[in-house]
Amino acid sequence: MAVRNMKTTFLQVFLLIILSALESYAALDARYYDTTCPQAEQIIAETVLNASMHDPKAAARLLRLFFHDCFIRGCDASVLLDSTLQNKAEKDGPPNMSLAAFYVIDDAKAKLEKACPHTVSCADIIAITARDVVTMNGGPYWSVLKGRKDGRVSRAYETRNLPPPSFNTTQLIQTFAKRGLGVKDMVALSGGHTVGFSHCSSFVPRIHNFSLMHTVDPSMNQEFAQTLKQKCPSPNKNGDAGQFLDSTASKFDNDYYKQILAGKGVLLSDQTLYGDLRRRGFVESFAKDENSFFTEFADSMVKLGNVGVKEEGEVRLNCRVVNN
Ligand code: HEM
Ligand SMILES: *[C@@H]1O[C@H](CO)[C@@H](O)[C@H](O)[C@H]1NC(C)=O
Ligand SMILES: *[C@@H]1O[C@H](CO)[C@@H](O)[C@H](O)[C@H]1NC(C)=O
Ligand SMILES: *[C@@H]1O[C@H](CO)[C@@H](O)[C@H](O)[C@H]1NC(C)=O
Ligand SMILES: *[C@@H]1O[C@H](CO)[C@@H](O)[C@H](O)[C@H]1NC(C)=O
Repeated sequence: MAVRNMKTTFLQVFLLIILSALESYAALDARYYDTTCPQAEQIIAETVLNASMHDPKAAARLLRLFFHDCFIRGCDASVLLDSTLQNKAEKDGPPNMSLAAFYVIDDAKAKLEKACPHTVSCADIIAITARDVVTMNGGPYWSVLKGRKDGRVSRAYETRNLPPPSFNTTQLIQTFAKRGLGVKDMVALSGGHTVGFSHCSSFVPRIHNFSLMHTVDPSMNQEFAQTLKQKCPSPNKNGDAGQFLDSTASKFDNDYYKQILAGKGVLLSDQTLYGDLRRRGFVESFAKDENSFFTEFADSMVKLGNVGVKEEGEVRLNCRVVNN
């Protein structure tokens, strides 16, 4: 009797393990292309390095591209699809101002199609590229899990599911939680703003006419607010004007968190990380300890790369159009 019970239990546990393996994340794998396209990461790294040398804006745009891709329909390269006569695609929906680095992905894809035809997905190219720009600009290295397939659908109106810069603590936590990302992931990934630039429109409500009681957001350092007002007067005729997201915007470092401690977070969604007790501890520890930021950022980028991954699907031949 006892023996029979034990057998049942073994069988049950065994079945449970199999079932949970089937149910968990897509089976992404760091060595996915080891036999089919061993030179894939080398080709992508060379393309990214060359692009960064010619185009100083490319790195930040490529990092943002990964975030945008994974938050809408999962990491399936839906952000790369061009609009068609019948369909307005994500890249033509707001806010698309800082996505203009598609050509780098196109370059990498063209080289990959020559080296190993029909093998490396566009979604994996985005994920590898995001890691490369972080590492090349002084940030951490991590091994990218691969094996994503490319989606066939891209809708401009779905970009409204990206968090806007006006979001408060509670709203940000919710948007990240919907993708299985926790508070630590949210604070660490926001550190992506250690590189790059924001247009005035993304923060101008904080410096002009913030509320009935305050013209300037009281959580902002007041001298910093004056600097931003000079760059972004109201009304503003220069649509290209704006501010770098931290004081060392070409370097991947922990300066972003130091700026937040000083009240110099550019976006409301940046500064709000410090205003809330649930997240203040993370901001303080990342500002103090760059290594801990790097470790957590890498860990959270791997998690972001798992969001909504498709195991079934195609490897696009051209990242801008679905296969026939
Ligand atoms: C927490 C929620 C987030 C919000 C509300 C947000 C919002 C924004 C906004 C409004 C801009 C400026 C766009 C412009 O005015 O041109 C921006 C830029 C940027 N974001 Fe985020 N973002 C978030 C999370 C992330 C994450 C997770 C990453 C990557 C890990 C990221 C990477 C970037 C980069 C690199 C830029 C600079 C782009 C450039 O220089 O062109 N962001 N973000
Ligand atoms: C390097 O980048 C430039 C500018 O984007 C491009 O014209 C050139 O073809 C690239 N060269 C290589 C080897 O990728
Ligand atoms: C953003 O969307 C507008 C409107 O559809 C489009 O004209 C523009 O080319 C898009 N920008 C990028 C970088 O794709
Ligand atoms: C955040 O914004 C939402 C929607 O505007 C609002 O209902 C909520 O009270 C705000 N939460 C905090 C903590 O400010
Ligand atoms: C500030 O906002 C209030 C209420 O939205 C509006 O009536 C007023 O005209 C605004 N003032 C400026 C200077 O934009």
